Amino acid sequence: MEPVFDVSAFRQALGQFPTGVCVVTSVIGMDKIGVTISSFNSLSFDPPLILFSIDNRAASLPLWTKAEGYTINVLSENQTDLSSRFSRPLTNKWEGIACQLKAGCGLVLPGAAALFHCTRWAVHEGGDHLLFIGKVNSFLSFRDRRPLVFSRGRYAALESEVNDEASWPLAIHY
Ligand SMILES: Cc1cc2nc3c(=O)[nH]c(=O)nc-3n(C[C@H](O)[C@H](O)[C@H](O)COP(=O)(O)O)c2cc1C
Repeated sequence: MEPVFDVSAFRQALGQFPTGVCVVTSVIGMDKIGVTISSFNSLSFDPPLILFSIDNRAASLPLWTKAEGYTINVLSENQTDLSSRFSRPLTNKWEGIACQLKAGCGLVLPGAAALFHCTRWAVHEGGDHLLFIGKVNSFLSFRDRRPLVFSRGRYAALESEVNDEASWPLAIHY
């Protein structure tokens, strides 16, 4: 008999890996879409590729499959309100938000710690999610803004850097 796979223990173990929090956005015709994600990651430097995944049950998924471009807004530590807003299937997610369109990509939210403007590179099935790969056309990093962190199902902030000076680039580039 196959041992039962404990999904809640699996989720708990994954929570031991802290991530940032992003809102990925796009525009399809007249529709603006935006979803809070922690699945953003770098994929390739040459060509410059990033990835994220969207749950098959997400209300906006049918629109994501049509998107030709994306903007990844990496949230700053003071943007938990935006994270909450874009993590609910609301119809009025955009109400009162002054966002800017990056042509061919997505929408820029004010105050992000970094922005990645991408065009669709590939979309793959990945179990109960779709995996989106974007080619980065341009990016911006606001180094005076500290990123929001998500770990163990909670938001966190970077309290202090381990070293004042970043040890970048490491020999392995990570
Ligand atoms: C911190 C955080 C990270 C999340 N990461 C993801 C993710 O990577 N992929 C995903 O599909 N949903 C993720 N979600 C859930 C979506 O934001 C949520 O399902 C949202 O309602 C989807 O938007 P929609 O209903 O407009 O499709 C995350 C939520 C939070 C709060």
